[in-house]
Amino acid sequence: MGKSRKKPDAPLLKLLAGQKLTTPPIWLMRQAGRYLPEYRKLREQKAGFLPLVEDSEAAAEATLQPINRFHFDAAILFSDILVIPYALGQDLTFIKGEGPKLTPALVNHRLDLLTKLPNRLTPIYETVRRVAHRLSPETTFLGFAGSPWTVATYMVAGEGSRDQAVTRAMAYRDPQAFSEIIEAIIDLTVLYLDGQIEAGVDAVQLFDSWAGTLSPQQFERWVIDPTARLVEKLREKHPNIPIIGFPKGAASRIKAYIADTQVTAIGLDETIDPYWADQYLPADFPVQGNLDPLVLLAGGEALDQSITTILDAFSERPHIFNLGHGILPQTPLTHVSHLLEKIRG
Ligand code: CP3
Repeated sequence: MGKSRKKPDAPLLKLLAGQKLTTPPIWLMRQAGRYLPEYRKLREQKAGFLPLVEDSEAAAEATLQPINRFHFDAAILFSDILVIPYALGQDLTFIKGEGPKLTPALVNHRLDLLTKLPNRLTPIYETVRRVAHRLSPETTFLGFAGSPWTVATYMVAGEGSRDQAVTRAMAYRDPQAFSEIIEAIIDLTVLYLDGQIEAGVDAVQLFDSWAGTLSPQQFERWVIDPTARLVEKLREKHPNIPIIGFPKGAASRIKAYIADTQVTAIGLDETIDPYWADQYLPADFPVQGNLDPLVLLAGGEALDQSITTILDAFSERPHIFNLGHGILPQTPLTHVSHLLEKIRG
């Protein structure tokens, strides 16, 4: 069972339970990463990104680095959404400057070409155990996974893509084969998140970074429906686990996403007007976001104005301060400290 009840003083967990707080809890997507000199140092000692994820002690350290430096309200597990394709049997490499590659790409192959290797996830549960022991009771521990659609786009294309055209075309051309991939991702992701919860995370986030490119019917079919079933299956075992959904680019469809997936809170990307969100989302529904990562990079007056706007728009509902997407590697550390001062006073 989730251990949230053991952390009655964690602001983020209070907020996910629907409590509005005067000072919003804050964490940043991709907070464990290359904008931190201590991360770059740890990363240099490894031959690749995956060896770092698979070394539970090093991954625990990477998880804790942003907490030690900035005291965010949440630690997010250091792993990646692509460990699911890896554990479904694809080879995974991260090539500098080119991003992740998964082979064989499934665009021309059936899923049964792959041999499942769920033990590839085992070191990650050990990372969770190590971090859980070291966090103070005020810090919420977030686990995560990619949502089925976003993970499938990488499995099918074998790499990241701007518009996910290869995968969207396959989903129309061969919905049967595509849904087999989606089902396999759902099943393993439920197992994976269950493993994270059993090992000690307090809540989880589902990253659906590429939810924005689908037509309305395809959004319903490949984003909402699989996410709803994933949430339902996870709650069969962990009825109280808070789940943050982050369907990036979903725009006004976040209303249907919230209603139909039953997530606990919604992550908003930077394109969403916070005043619109506050007005149109269900009263008291917790929101997370949505500072533009580029304004955090830029700093100055634009940053201060954006922070003020977001705080003002969400002053009457439970709000977790965050970015609208991951922090950029070039972001100055002083801008992050400044943001924290503005939020916490
Ligand atoms: O948020 C955190 O600090 C926790 C760790 C985390 C990573 N990736 C570590 C990582 C999380 C939550 C992710 C999520 C992730 N990974 C997403 C969803 C969120 C988003 O950004 O849209 C996606 C699409 C991926 C896939 C992925 N992983 C890509 C496209 C890349 C390469 C591009 C890049 O940013 O380098 C990765 C690699 C990756 N995952 C890195 C980190 C810290 C950088 C790799 C390195 O250090 O060499």
